[in-house]
Amino acid sequence: MPPISAMCTVSDISNIVLIGFMGAGKSTVGHELAKTGVMDFVDLDELIVRRQGRTIPRIFAEDGEEVFRDYETETLSSLAKKRGLVVATGGGIIGRPQNWTLMRQMGPVVYLRAAWPTLRARISGCTNRPLAGPDRSEEQVVALLRRRQSLYEQADLTVDTDDKTLAEVVEEVWRGIKDRC
Ligand code: S3P
Repeated sequence: MPPISAMCTVSDISNIVLIGFMGAGKSTVGHELAKTGVMDFVDLDELIVRRQGRTIPRIFAEDGEEVFRDYETETLSSLAKKRGLVVATGGGIIGRPQNWTLMRQMGPVVYLRAAWPTLRARISGCTNRPLAGPDRSEEQVVALLRRRQSLYEQADLTVDTDDKTLAEVVEEVWRGIKDRC
């Protein structure tokens, strides 16, 4: 039997867009999906940082969140016509309807879902995420997750990642995408 990723070719799926809250594992899973699918991996936040020449905390501090969201939409838009990409988005990409239009044009949108304890363990102590930094209380971050939950669930495919290995998550994503081909 061929590997699952080989059943669904890049030309069938164009791109894969990963969404999910901070700490959901979008970059880690994205790297592995790209490797197994012989696709190119793009981290949207990294692209924004490269284009801006500034870190995300600096962009938030100097320009504010709304302007960061503009950069995010512009950067996503710059990828919209590309093919063969696995794109890891930032956790707030789901906030703008325009981003959904762009993401859906690109390919299947996959929500990597994780329970709060899993997310908390992954983002605790992190200083690179202004919306989950040390100045934010746990209640504030959980409230943000709750507000976003129904938006994430608009994805084409939801994969639960709690208590799964990276290989299991990657396999489940491929399986879900293949079922949609
Ligand atoms: C954000 C998530 C971050 C980054 C920015 C805002 C959010 O990306 O885009 O700090 O609003 O959830 P990750 O989800 O990769 O941490």
